[in-house]
Amino acid sequence: MSHSVVNTDNWEAVKAECLKHLPQHVIDYIEETKDQDRSESHLISILHKIQAHSGYLSKEQLNAVSQLARIPMTKVTGVATFYHYFRLTPRGKHIISVCLGTACYVKGAEKISQSLMNKLGIQFGETTKDGLFSLEAARCLGTCGLAPVIMVDEQVYGPVASGDVRTILDKYIKQASRTGDKN
Ligand code: FES
Repeated sequence: MSHSVVNTDNWEAVKAECLKHLPQHVIDYIEETKDQDRSESHLISILHKIQAHSGYLSKEQLNAVSQLARIPMTKVTGVATFYHYFRLTPRGKHIISVCLGTACYVKGAEKISQSLMNKLGIQFGETTKDGLFSLEAARCLGTCGLAPVIMVDEQVYGPVASGDVRTILDKYIKQASRTGDKN
């Protein structure tokens, strides 16, 4: 089997470069397991460990995984983008979780999602350019009686109508401009 992703003549240099982007425990884990397991679930556990450490998966980290674990970059990015729980950008200052559980779904969660996406200009799993908001999908936030529900950080809002979205966002935007957080 050929491994076009790595130049073995330069292996020490490759490892040194990877060390700049990956924490030591992830490098150790890849080293320990790379000859035994090249399954997708192995790759998923590597990506989980990186995300638990860094909060998201950067391009440099994905490349380092590809090099160290000797898995083609297309496979690494394919897995990272396929599973919605992997984040490819840093999380924003405020995390907006939209409940897509059954009770919220039947009460119009899809409309709320659309309204948030339109107003923020991002999709689920993304962060606004100013770093203020990240948008995430959630499964039942445990407050079905308030459906449809969204949560911003620890604060639950419900029932939310699509017309409420602007007011909710404005609260955080104003707060950020008062404290000078917004870039
Ligand atoms: S389904 Fe949305 S809070 Fe339970």
